[in-house]
Amino acid sequence: MQNKINIALPKGRLGEKVYDIFEKIGYGCPAIHEGGRKLIFENEENGVRYFWVKPSDVAVYVERGAADIGVVGKDILLEQSSDVYELLDLGMGKCRMAVAGVKGERPDFAHTLRVATKFPNIAREYYRKQSREIDIIKLHGSIEIAPILKMSDVIVDIVETGTTLKENNLEVLEEIVPISARLIANKASYKFNTQRIRQMCDKIAVICEKND
Ligand code: PRP
Repeated sequence: MQNKINIALPKGRLGEKVYDIFEKIGYGCPAIHEGGRKLIFENEENGVRYFWVKPSDVAVYVERGAADIGVVGKDILLEQSSDVYELLDLGMGKCRMAVAGVKGERPDFAHTLRVATKFPNIAREYYRKQSREIDIIKLHGSIEIAPILKMSDVIVDIVETGTTLKENNLEVLEEIVPISARLIANKASYKFNTQRIRQMCDKIAVICEKND
């Protein structure tokens, strides 16, 4: 009997879409459809166990080996510098990391730039490359409010449809990096289960290409 593959899925819409893909490639776990508040689901027959975790925690579970594989946004991988293998770009959850500010206003280059963000490491790295001095204001959500209230000059945040920016009179000033969901693997797990993980990955790639 081969050991189980533990899969960390991000709670929410993306995770549900990703689970559907795992089901399509033969790794379904019927109990998962029962709803409720249960967080761990196992299917002895096909040797998989799923965990629903907070999206920003997926890479932690995978890096520490509690999960063998997982699906996580590239934004989180970049922010956390996770020591995991990135196996596949699923082409889902597409958005971009961008600098945005109040429409029509340009930040003053003479002063330290005040940057409000949920992604301090991405912001720091981006401005380090430009040798620009910044003051990070770490927030946990509703980042768009910061420049409106003049607490920050700009924000570094995810832009998906652009609606949040538009409805708050903000605009993209610079694009930092495109973001999408990635399949990741724990390094040791990948070494010991290369064949099974690769097989899963290849089958997922076929489905994602079809959906593209
Ligand atoms: C994210 C992001 C933006 C918004 C962008 O926030 O931080 O605020 O989505 O999406 P849009 O371009 O389609 O409008 P999220 O919904 O995660 O909420 P938060 O403000 O609590 O972080």
